Amino acid sequence: MRIYKEKDYESVSRKAANLISAQVISKPDSILGLATGTSPLGAYHQLAEWCTKKDVDFSRVISVNLDEYVGLSPDNSESYHYFMEKNFFSKVNIAMENTHVPNGHVSDLEEACKAYDSLIQDLGGIDLQLLGIGSNGHIGFNEPGKSFLLDTHIVQLTESTIKANSRLFSRIDDVPRRAITMGIRNIFQAAKIVLIATGQNKADALYRSFMEPITPEVPASILQLHTNVSIVADEEALKRI
Ligand code: GLP
Repeated sequence: MRIYKEKDYESVSRKAANLISAQVISKPDSILGLATGTSPLGAYHQLAEWCTKKDVDFSRVISVNLDEYVGLSPDNSESYHYFMEKNFFSKVNIAMENTHVPNGHVSDLEEACKAYDSLIQDLGGIDLQLLGIGSNGHIGFNEPGKSFLLDTHIVQLTESTIKANSRLFSRIDDVPRRAITMGIRNIFQAAKIVLIATGQNKADALYRSFMEPITPEVPASILQLHTNVSIVADEEALKRI
């Protein structure tokens, strides 16, 4: 496990963008696993800037996102589809048909999960998976206490995740209670993992994930066993490490 300790959000974002660029430069047709949330946002802005200057080229990249809320249509401004389109896909030269986000707006959710697993498998797996981390140690929407063996599945969000994510909705009641997420197994099978964490509210999650025993109660703790994990974090998030 590598830890990149950076002074603030801006340098964390730049370092994470460096790691993603390095991946795409060495393998232009990389399969990138992407994440939503505040953590990767700065990296996306940085990559968009470099792409405009032609320092990085996404024209052959294929992306698969981690998760999506159940019940929100892709054009809903609070959906993860919308977030990705607004903050990344529309800002770089990735082909829209090469971008994939799980579909939580269908009647047959089980089928949507299976289809997403098949897609990842048909692509040959993920080369680099970008992650944020929830304050309870969740990655994607893999909440505490679920099996490490799960592939893409439907989750019931915990109260703490609903509360944390309500900052992006007008009212807490608008936050969907369910989500579709890649499972820990999909994430763990990625060749490389880059986890971004900033701010003191992530310090306990990083400590419990990387300094304490591995347990499904702290989903990110499984990453201790992965052979290629980079944590890119600021001093506040790393203050207990
Ligand atoms: C959500 C997402 C996660 C993300 C987490 C932390 O629950 N499903 O993928 O890592 O929030 O988000 P943030 O980076 O905004 O702190």
